[in-house]
Amino acid sequence: MIFESHAHYDDEKFDIDRDDLLERMPDEGVEYIINVAANIDSAYKCVELAKKYDYIYAAVGVHPDDVENMKKEDLKTIKELSDYDKVVAVGEIGLDYYYENSSKELQKLWFSEQIETAKELQLPIIVHSRDAAKDTMDIIKSTDAKQIGGVIHCYSGSSELAREYVKMGFYIGVGGVVTFKNANKLKEVVKEISIDNILIETDSPYLAPVPNRGKRNDSSNLKYVIQQIAELKNMSYEEVLKSTYENAKKLFRIK
Ligand code: NI
Repeated sequence: MIFESHAHYDDEKFDIDRDDLLERMPDEGVEYIINVAANIDSAYKCVELAKKYDYIYAAVGVHPDDVENMKKEDLKTIKELSDYDKVVAVGEIGLDYYYENSSKELQKLWFSEQIETAKELQLPIIVHSRDAAKDTMDIIKSTDAKQIGGVIHCYSGSSELAREYVKMGFYIGVGGVVTFKNANKLKEVVKEISIDNILIETDSPYLAPVPNRGKRNDSSNLKYVIQQIAELKNMSYEEVLKSTYENAKKLFRIK
């Protein structure tokens, strides 16, 4: 019973075989999937997927790469889409200073605004943060986002910062990167924080773990992520599976 906390099955890379692949997921041991939106168009598609598949839930929001033309009206759309009870989070939202597709000022503005929307909706947030560790933490603090909580997805920061997030009740999202040879920083984070604060994710179609690195990713690859976490923490595969499953059910309030 794998809980996939972050995938993008609405991505065009799945256009050729989306339904075949998704129908197979329960046979791969995947019990739940959170399909996470990248922008407003994608948010509608995420809701469609959640309506079509029992085990898919949706997160709706606008990724920092896509905030350039974001409008107030989009916040209204996020709220309307959240009326559907299988919308369980606002995301993915945050800051990306690596690509900086939109100005830092716009990214900060829409990250804050979407956190305020999540607070109104009483939904947790799925946070994307790349090369923007300080500003991400500053905004999470200034908006008091700990009252809703969430996950720092595809975590790439320090152990010290991870501990600070955990103290505020946030989860640390760990995916395929943890299997990469050069991922020493992330491996340290996984060793140091409790399994009770970790969610597993693929970020499909991106970031496939070893031995499938470089290929299109899908949730069946989570077994490699679980295996790596188990090795790092000296735990059994089953213990990691069970804890990460329960953590995700708790965060996304899935009964
Ligand atoms: Ni993502």
